[in-house]
Amino acid sequence: MKKDKLLKIIANMTLKEKVFQLFQLNGAMITDDAVISGPMQEMNLTEDIINNMGSILGVSGAEKAIEIQKKYLEKNRHGIPLLICHDVIHGHRTTFPIPLALGCSWDSEAVKEVAKVSGAEAAVSGIHCNFSPMVDLVRDPRWGRVMESTGEDPYLNSILGKAFVEGYQGENLKEDVERVAACVKHFAAYGATEGGRDYNTVDIGISTFYDMHLPAYKAAIDAGAKTVMTSFNTINGVPATVNEWLMKDVLRKELSFDGVLFSDWGAIGETVVHGCSENGKDAAYKAMKATVDVDMMSVEYFEQLEALVLEKKIDEKYVDEAVYRILDLKDELGLFENPFRGADTAREKELLLCKKHRESSRDIARKSMVLLKNEAQVLPLKDKQKIAFVGPFISNKSIRGFWSDLGFDKDSITIEEAILNRFESKDQLVICGNHKIEIESFEEIRSTVEKAKESDVIVVALGEDQNSSGEGRCLTDIRLPGLQEELLKELYKTGKKVVVVLFNGRPLDLRAVFENSDAILEAWFPGVEGGNAVLDILFGSYNPGGKITMSFPYSVGQVPIHYNHFKTGRPSEIAGAFYKCSYLDSPHWAMLPFGYGLSYTQFQYSNFKISKGKMIKGKEESIEVTIDIKNTGLYNGEEIVQLYIQDEFGSRVRPVKELKGFKKVFLKQNEEKEIKFIINEEMLKFYTIENKIDSEVGRFKVFVGTNSAEKNSLEFELIK
Ligand code: GLC
Repeated sequence: MKKDKLLKIIANMTLKEKVFQLFQLNGAMITDDAVISGPMQEMNLTEDIINNMGSILGVSGAEKAIEIQKKYLEKNRHGIPLLICHDVIHGHRTTFPIPLALGCSWDSEAVKEVAKVSGAEAAVSGIHCNFSPMVDLVRDPRWGRVMESTGEDPYLNSILGKAFVEGYQGENLKEDVERVAACVKHFAAYGATEGGRDYNTVDIGISTFYDMHLPAYKAAIDAGAKTVMTSFNTINGVPATVNEWLMKDVLRKELSFDGVLFSDWGAIGETVVHGCSENGKDAAYKAMKATVDVDMMSVEYFEQLEALVLEKKIDEKYVDEAVYRILDLKDELGLFENPFRGADTAREKELLLCKKHRESSRDIARKSMVLLKNEAQVLPLKDKQKIAFVGPFISNKSIRGFWSDLGFDKDSITIEEAILNRFESKDQLVICGNHKIEIESFEEIRSTVEKAKESDVIVVALGEDQNSSGEGRCLTDIRLPGLQEELLKELYKTGKKVVVVLFNGRPLDLRAVFENSDAILEAWFPGVEGGNAVLDILFGSYNPGGKITMSFPYSVGQVPIHYNHFKTGRPSEIAGAFYKCSYLDSPHWAMLPFGYGLSYTQFQYSNFKISKGKMIKGKEESIEVTIDIKNTGLYNGEEIVQLYIQDEFGSRVRPVKELKGFKKVFLKQNEEKEIKFIINEEMLKFYTIENKIDSEVGRFKVFVGTNSAEKNSLEFELIK
């Protein structure tokens, strides 16, 4: 039922005012005296546009938001409040680990908490709508934006995307002013960008689109996300932002999304550059027909839409529907009754980077880190050991990741600061963290190695600049930068035990790191509490349990690479096989598979059973699989037990395995538990040759284990 009050406002608006409501301005351009100058002048903005634009982005701070809203309302003839948006991707002032790290926690409650805290800090800072979660499925570590994703699996991305939306929005956006509207992005399949190069072409098959890329957008929309953002890429040769099939048939109809659809920054205008829209007017026409509601920072809507309507090239109802969706979002946020909503300078001081939020960031950072190697139980370290802490990330505060400009690097706790907090006496420690990230000289390496020689164990913190991943930050070489590998080799030659801690925003080529270390902890970009979380793990206060959610290749030559690949007609179990789907110079599987992660303790799986071998299609039956897991090691610990299914054949080829369930299990030393999974027909559905989501009868394999490389399986059939 449409809201009469909104329809009445629309009825009183001029066509110009309606068109301007569809424009979103970068709020950073708004000067205190609100004079149209500089970039605004270049965009041919007028007072009329500024007084009637529907939304702004890039503004945060209660005082500033209140002031902008006040000035706006003084000028807006209809008393329509301004919508304030921002990118709060993994934290506002309290920066949390990057989403690719959050994914490694496999913990939807923890992700929901991150979204709740980030949303609250954003809301009290005057933000109404948050351009998150990014749920693009990723398979190419060359792409800088993999750091924003939770990984390569549609099932896990769906669960975590839902958790983000629930955490941001809560139950009642109108009442709960410390929540924000979510925005699912980038619709769609932006993660499949060719060459791992940002803004590049996406060219994927329809079944890959439906089976791999679409599920997480669907899950986030089903969770009630109020808004969606278009992606920069093409789908089937048409830029998403003007792609009627993608936006009307898939998003609006199949996914039943009736909320606000933002373009990405300048994306409407860029469809001219793509060579799909003939000119700005054509771009405005096509985007409006594709039901894109908001033109973020391009001029096409406010320059062209009025003429298109007056020339009857487009029906005004398209404009009215877009305006309605925007006013409806503002109404859902309670902005008509309270245009300042959660903006509150006192609450801002109380909440932002408060102790509780820091503790929350430290907790999820521990859960997001992944133990990749631990030979001879080098870890956990003992306080009494003589330890050298060296390398460019020992005292580097830039460990919060690319999308973290609402916080400050000065807020970060480095490893060095965490050491100083933890140790009364530093006599047995050597700390030498004064490198540039690339480590520019062999002299620097020599002096570091000299200092490190005095210790029993060397902890070397390595990684990439936090701005070499993120938007527009794509690489062709995914090894550690500069002379870091050389430093590591020299340290390893000392014969001391070497522990590597990695700070990075993408899977890296870790061949040299594995060859020259005894232990490796993947810390990602862990946020403001990174140093403390690293020490909590290195010294055993926390037993790591994270599991990678994006495959680590041996080298970039293998990319794109992912665990849920097809079998092909010539699969090969060995590397270098002639006339097989393999390479001559490298394994064709990942060095570290999806779902991989170690613990300080060991888990033994046994007694894998299946309740029956057959399930009848359409009868809503289910099959139970059980497995026993025992903690046989020396520490209490948590294991993420994973369930994978392989559909052995189908009307379209099917992945060699797909994640269909997982359970995080905490086991004390020597404790044993039976883990149960239920398999149902829903789990077997895919985009069949009939172009619909359905199951097909046939044989299936089920795997339960510690990561996607698990080979042990049981069989069952789906029968007519
Ligand atoms: C950027 C990004 C998008 C972000 C938007 C607003 O280009 O692609 O993820 O939300 O612009 O900053």
